[in-house]
Amino acid sequence: MSSQLQLKAQRKNSFEEIKRLIASKYPIVWIESWEEERVEAALKKVAASGFSQPLQFQVWSETRGFGNGEKIDVVSALEQFISQSGSGLFLIKDFSWKLAPESLLKRMLKDVFQLTKSSFKTLFLCSSIAEIPDDMLKDIVSIDFSLPDEMDLGTIFESVLKGAPKVKVSLTEEQKAKLLKGALGLTGDEAKFAFQKMLVGKTELNEDALDIIYEEKARIVKRDGLLEFVPTKYNLEDIGGLENLKDWLKDRATFFSKEAQSAGLRMPKGVLMTGVSGCGKSLSTQAIAAAWGLPLYRLDMNRLYGGALGTAEECFRRAIIQIESVSPAILWLEEIEKGVAGYEQGDKGVTARIFSSFLTWLQEHTTPVFVAATANEINKLPPELLRKGRFDEIFFVDLPTEAERGPIFKVHLEKRKIDLAGFNLIELAKATNNFNGAEIEQSVVSGLVLAFKDKQRPLSQDDIFKAVGRMVPLATTMAEQIKEIKRWADTRAVKASK
Ligand SMILES: Nc1ncnc2c1ncn2[C@@H]1O[C@H](COP(=O)(O)OP(=O)(O)OP(=O)(O)O)[C@@H](O)[C@H]1O
Ligand SMILES: [Mg+2]
Repeated sequence: MSSQLQLKAQRKNSFEEIKRLIASKYPIVWIESWEEERVEAALKKVAASGFSQPLQFQVWSETRGFGNGEKIDVVSALEQFISQSGSGLFLIKDFSWKLAPESLLKRMLKDVFQLTKSSFKTLFLCSSIAEIPDDMLKDIVSIDFSLPDEMDLGTIFESVLKGAPKVKVSLTEEQKAKLLKGALGLTGDEAKFAFQKMLVGKTELNEDALDIIYEEKARIVKRDGLLEFVPTKYNLEDIGGLENLKDWLKDRATFFSKEAQSAGLRMPKGVLMTGVSGCGKSLSTQAIAAAWGLPLYRLDMNRLYGGALGTAEECFRRAIIQIESVSPAILWLEEIEKGVAGYEQGDKGVTARIFSSFLTWLQEHTTPVFVAATANEINKLPPELLRKGRFDEIFFVDLPTEAERGPIFKVHLEKRKIDLAGFNLIELAKATNNFNGAEIEQSVVSGLVLAFKDKQRPLSQDDIFKAVGRMVPLATTMAEQIKEIKRWADTRAVKASK
């Protein structure tokens, strides 16, 4: 089965899209959507008013047949559709290859394809994800039934308002537009619920309503368990060194603002950070969120493949929809190689498909989502991911230089409210050749323990020296691997350090 996992970045107008497909005589269209009712409503509307002559429209579901009280199986229903004369649209809800013996279903669909190719008959299959067998890829086209756009949301909003005539609406046009924009990414039902919630117990609807929309979005993301909201504890000031990376981030801090958008600035799509362990990749990711003032969501790759929340493809797709729905936001992909590089575990085909749809989305999405990816085993990353235009930049985060180690000490001493007066940062830096950031932090922590054990006195520089003397930095034991990483990064990445 080849799931046509296409992540459409742009929100297309579903009505127009369906009309176009019918007009182009596509015999079979698989609509991917969780919102069966909206799909049905859209098809009904297209059938009634999309063309100069109204088209017949029929719906079949496993439980209710054609809805006339008569149970009829899918194969008979399809036979009926084929033999009917005239033009028309036919929707099969919850389509799956399990509705009938697969070979029989396939044959039926091929018949539909042959017989209806030359007519204005279109068969629509609807389910949350299209599973198209490889040998039918030419016969079935799949579309992603986009979530409600601002216009759809406006209609939902108005209908909810009608139900609460006592509430005074004190929103300017601009505020209303902002509200509808804020609700983008919610399904029709979710938006309706959020709008209703805004009105509960209110006599007046004002700008505060937007908060409820955001809360609702955060709640939905949490409920699903795929994305994890990461509160940002770190700032750019918490990073010692990595000046190139920091400058790059500072330069783009305002790119997601409304002003930047109306000035037509291109939003950055993402950054990939790779390098030596413990040198600040995860730290930097959190600092981006703080520096840009955007919420940070981590996608757990293990959950994606764990199976508990659905197939990996469904999960991935949902994660993308969700992150777009809470945008502007930052999507954090830790150890991206595990998710995309045909990792040993699991089905290679699935991973490859997820990967290719991720690439397409990464490059084409127009929603304000910035991807911050980190990778440790860079040689596992497929070259397509590293090609220009995917990420805005690939940074190599190396072991800190001597000049960087002083500032890292400073960060960690200050974090623990230790007066810097008694410390010579230059000497500390000299004594910690080959140490990574995590180890520098550890030497401060261990020094504090030593000082405390010794009559609970305050930390001194000697304590740190002692701690340093007892540590064997990772870079010493992993010299070969690190050399390898450096060789790789030399031609492919930009140094995060100046
Ligand atoms: N440049 C730095 N400045 C300040 N602290 C640092 C720096 N690099 C690392 N640290 C400290 O080390 C800790 C671990 O770093 P971090 O988790 O960012 O490493 P990483 O590069 O993501 O490593 P890994 O590859 O193992 O995931 C940080 O939380 C921070 O306290
Ligand atoms: Mg990390």
